[in-house]
Amino acid sequence: MDWGMKNRLSKIIRPKDGRTVMLAVDHGYFMGPTTGLENIEKTVKPLLRYADTLMLTRGALRNYITPDTNIPIVLRVSGGTSILNKDHLLHEGTVVDIDDAIRLNVSGVAFSILVGQSFERDTLLGMTEYINKCERYGIPVLAVTAVGRGLGKDAKYLSLASRMAAELGAHIVKTYYCDNFEHVVDTCPVPIVIAGGKKQPEQDALQMAYDALQAGASGVDMGRNIFQSTDPVGMMRAVNAVVHKKYDPKEAYDLFKEHESKK
Ligand code: R5P
Repeated sequence: MDWGMKNRLSKIIRPKDGRTVMLAVDHGYFMGPTTGLENIEKTVKPLLRYADTLMLTRGALRNYITPDTNIPIVLRVSGGTSILNKDHLLHEGTVVDIDDAIRLNVSGVAFSILVGQSFERDTLLGMTEYINKCERYGIPVLAVTAVGRGLGKDAKYLSLASRMAAELGAHIVKTYYCDNFEHVVDTCPVPIVIAGGKKQPEQDALQMAYDALQAGASGVDMGRNIFQSTDPVGMMRAVNAVVHKKYDPKEAYDLFKEHESKK
């Protein structure tokens, strides 16, 4: 691995503890003005001090984040379908050229794959072609494994999708937490981060983050469970404490409640 690739990876995953808190606010690329992200600048600004990386789209970066903002960017470079397209949801292709990703000075890019769908080949080749370009310039690729209809989010499916992503060249894999998550982590040779998924009670989201880390995950790439919380800053701080400060779920929830009560 060359110096540039290692340098960028070190901006995504902290070398000190091998962990990361990624804040995901890329939802608009297929969900439009998602609750909590109506104005991304307003939402994100107070959260950044507890995030290692910000994951978002090209349009969000240009329009909501000022260029002097000191946060490593993971840019979503796949897209092409909306939440209204039930048959082809996440049947994605490349939506940002590598040249523009470089121009935006990103630390990494994210590409979604859909293993097990009739169009899996399109998304896998799309990601692989992008990885080939990124290898030329030393840019890490985070593979986002999404769940195909009827495939479930179990360890069998998620380990298959995660391992495939790594074997195809992804440098980091983002997947969902599930029972027996150790199996997903143990059979994937690159760092794994978990998505938060739909909003759940803060206590449950913190427990999930903790369990994922205990199973060997390198961190979280969390969105709705942070920016749709009753106290996004408190939740971001609590998630950071679980990931980087070894807080257990109770300690982290207490931290959240303490912050929330002062709001
Ligand atoms: C989905 O493909 C997007 O990349 C989201 O950023 C991702 O699912 C993480 O957000 P959340 O924690 O809200 O699921």
